[in-house]
Amino acid sequence: MKHKDSYSTPELLRIMGGLELRMNQFYTKVAKKFTEPEGIRIFWDSLAQQESVHSTIIYTLSNMYRNNPGMFNEIVEVDYATMSKIEDFIKTSEEKINNEDFDLNAALQEAFDLETLEVNDIYDRIIESPREPFLAVIDHLIESEDAHLNSLVEAILEYASSDKLIEKAKNLRATFSIHEQV
Ligand SMILES: [Fe+2]
Repeated sequence: MKHKDSYSTPELLRIMGGLELRMNQFYTKVAKKFTEPEGIRIFWDSLAQQESVHSTIIYTLSNMYRNNPGMFNEIVEVDYATMSKIEDFIKTSEEKINNEDFDLNAALQEAFDLETLEVNDIYDRIIESPREPFLAVIDHLIESEDAHLNSLVEAILEYASSDKLIEKAKNLRATFSIHEQV
């Protein structure tokens, strides 16, 4: 069985740009669907906004690649399971929201599955050292992805109804505090 696939950087940036844009659309729609309590609507809106910034960053990276291809890795390996989930989300997110079973817990679960994908690893691999001119762009992207994973965990602990999902969020939060202590 194949565990990794190779992508050219322009192709990968195209896919990741599509993912960030799709996540923006997903969170925007979810924010319109789950408006109560106020805190959850604000949470979804802020995720939507961040995804919109991410897709702009990816667009900027694509332009940088065109002008400075030598500063980027030409080929990036991506875990097969991660890419399948990304492609599946891009194709099916719309119909998931429209499904009648799609409640607040399902929305939080979907967000959790997405935000725990190793997208930061992908962004890390697109540009490796020396990457000085682009460091700030990539670092901003990675920090922002980490920050909204943090806020997602808090939202799950507050609003999710599934014990299993709450348990997963707690486990993930435990790994955050380990990192903070280091
Ligand atoms: Fe993102």
